[in-house]
Amino acid sequence: MKIQMWREILDPYSLAVDELVVKFNHIIDFYRNKGEYSPIEQVTGRVKTISSIIEKANKKQIRLESFEEQIDDIAGVRIICQFVKDIYKVVEIIRARSDMKIKDEKDYIDNIKKSGYRSYHLIVCYNVETLQGTKELQVEIQIRTLAMNFWSTIEHSLQYKYKQNIPVEIRNRLTSAAKAVLNLDEEMSEVRDDIMEAQNSFRKKANMVSDILINIQNLYKVADKADVISIQDEFLDIYQNGEEEKLVEFSIKLDKISAAYNAQSLN
Ligand code: GTP
Ligand code: MG
Repeated sequence: MKIQMWREILDPYSLAVDELVVKFNHIIDFYRNKGEYSPIEQVTGRVKTISSIIEKANKKQIRLESFEEQIDDIAGVRIICQFVKDIYKVVEIIRARSDMKIKDEKDYIDNIKKSGYRSYHLIVCYNVETLQGTKELQVEIQIRTLAMNFWSTIEHSLQYKYKQNIPVEIRNRLTSAAKAVLNLDEEMSEVRDDIMEAQNSFRKKANMVSDILINIQNLYKVADKADVISIQDEFLDIYQNGEEEKLVEFSIKLDKISAAYNAQSLN
């Protein structure tokens, strides 16, 4: 097949990956804008290279005419979570959506692979709009924790280096590293609630401060400069003091002041 033909076939897959990355990033924003903890930490995507599609097709004796049905990971999205529990939450979020239909599902967290590999895999059907009309594609979504990702990235690069024949002593090391990673995920789960609470209150505070700054900035447009400067000084005092309660009180007061000015300027 000519390179140009490949490009045409693979282009919708790259559109699918781009769209899905945007959509999952919006889920992150949605949680964070509310000052809440996001079960998704990070999302990345890739389209399989032409050479690895050909390699896989040869290995599995797939005819090139049917590779789009038979190779389900041409488009791949990887979702990284902080905690194991988050992975199942993400699966439920995807299950509830109408734009991704789950076709296949593998839980390598409950059923750890012999290699020590852990992750949750979904194959979803996803529609993209092309100039030739709607095209339904398969996308592989891998969902894993930061710790699982750390292990599988290293293991994958060793597999690549040793062409799947990893020496026994390195294999043994990987197995014990996989146990350590499993342990780390379990330890993290134990302190999940504490970590989440700390992250939540940090994010809430960051959101509140950014609201206050926007409010003050807008006041400059409608209120007397000297008044705004004194409001700003009050904010800086409270902020430097670090008392969260005072900051909340100030934020509410500032909302009222802004509302009053806005009402005035509308008159
Ligand atoms: P293929 O898609 O044909 O490879 O087989 P499959 O669909 O049975 O594969 P599976 O769902 O087990 O794995 C799909 C993808 O998960 C692989 O392409 C890898 O990215 C990843 N994966 C699976 N097993 C391992 C493993 O032992 N180590 C690492 N590093 N990654 C793995
Ligand atoms: Mg597969």
